[in-house]
Amino acid sequence: MNDVTQRQYSNHLIQNYAPPAISLVKGSGSRVTDDEGREYLDFTSGIAVNALGHADPEWAKAVSDQAHTLVHCSNLFGNPLQGELAERLSRYTPKGRFLFCNSGTEANEALIKLARLHGRAIAGEEGKRYTVITAENGFHGRTFGGMAATPQEKIQGGFRPMLPGFRHAKLNDIQSFRDQVDDSVCAILLETIQGESGINPADPGFLRELRALCTEKNLLLLIDEVQCGAGRTGKFFAYEHAGIEPDAIGMAKGLAGGFPIGAIWVAEPYASLFTPGSHGTTFGGTPLACSAAIAVLDGIEKNDLLATITRQSADWINRLQELAKRFPGKIKELRGKGYLVGISMTDAPAPYVAKLREKGLLTVPAGNNTIRLIPPLNVTSADLDESLRILESVLGEE
Ligand SMILES: Cc1ncc(COP(=O)(O)O)c(C=O)c1O
Repeated sequence: MNDVTQRQYSNHLIQNYAPPAISLVKGSGSRVTDDEGREYLDFTSGIAVNALGHADPEWAKAVSDQAHTLVHCSNLFGNPLQGELAERLSRYTPKGRFLFCNSGTEANEALIKLARLHGRAIAGEEGKRYTVITAENGFHGRTFGGMAATPQEKIQGGFRPMLPGFRHAKLNDIQSFRDQVDDSVCAILLETIQGESGINPADPGFLRELRALCTEKNLLLLIDEVQCGAGRTGKFFAYEHAGIEPDAIGMAKGLAGGFPIGAIWVAEPYASLFTPGSHGTTFGGTPLACSAAIAVLDGIEKNDLLATITRQSADWINRLQELAKRFPGKIKELRGKGYLVGISMTDAPAPYVAKLREKGLLTVPAGNNTIRLIPPLNVTSADLDESLRILESVLGEE
């Protein structure tokens, strides 16, 4: 990071993030350039956001054209792009409806409000059924709803008391979830693949058992696809691999390829729990955000990216597995699917992330021991090859 930016960061910004090692000034495809002119292969994608990489020409044109046409008008008025985006997204969901917001944590807030509306509808009275069960080590955001749903000391510490009405159970342990269900519970909220805690997938069989438990007890199954959705695993939503149908989905991050957006989808019978005035946000579904999300869908569909991700990622993951076998003293295991992969190390990930960066590959640490690899959805096979070469050279160092 150059001296000017360094000074501005240390003098004028609240120090809530770890001091960044580098500062980025431009990007193209899977590559970014820092303020000292160094180029990197970006396998962070802005933490699973830059779905089409950086400065995708068609995405940039769509957003720029829309910026010259109509940026924002609030939900006092309709805008055709919000309708079009909902219709386009509905090709990837069962029958239901969408509500747009601006981030992942806001999407989860909306899911928690939906859970409470459902609780009132089935209990006949407000405040009787309001508890949401979430998984240990899950991450659902930093607002009060998001934090309460995230049972981690590093997220909740300093901010208690938490919003009431949350309980936690063990991922991939159906009995642990069953044990938490009583007359106060109205929903289960779960990431299909836990991202922030180190790429921990929910087993397909466990997801099917959870679906059955929710149906049996009249609980909503709320799936947080903020990080693993929008095509990242080779299906539009990661839960599709398990063949289940959730009652509602939260999404954000990659959905608009870098422009802030969040959304929930709610299955048809529950969507009408939200009535005029019950929820809303000034910025939700602006023409600009929707144009960015439509451009991402165009990019995915025109280029048949889901099929390419499935094919290319299988080969890449196989070669990562070979690397893991060659360095058993350093790599514990590989987890994930598609372009959301975690390399679980025997030590802390930060020194590896720094060495990879020095050799030109940007990655994201996760949990206590995981390096996350999150390339853009349209990454080339040559870039995947390069990531393997850089990883191999760092792992080969003493
Ligand atoms: C699964 C999941 N849910 C929610 C969030 C919060 O999203 P945002 O940072 O957009 O509020 C994240 C962010 O990392 C996430 O990974």
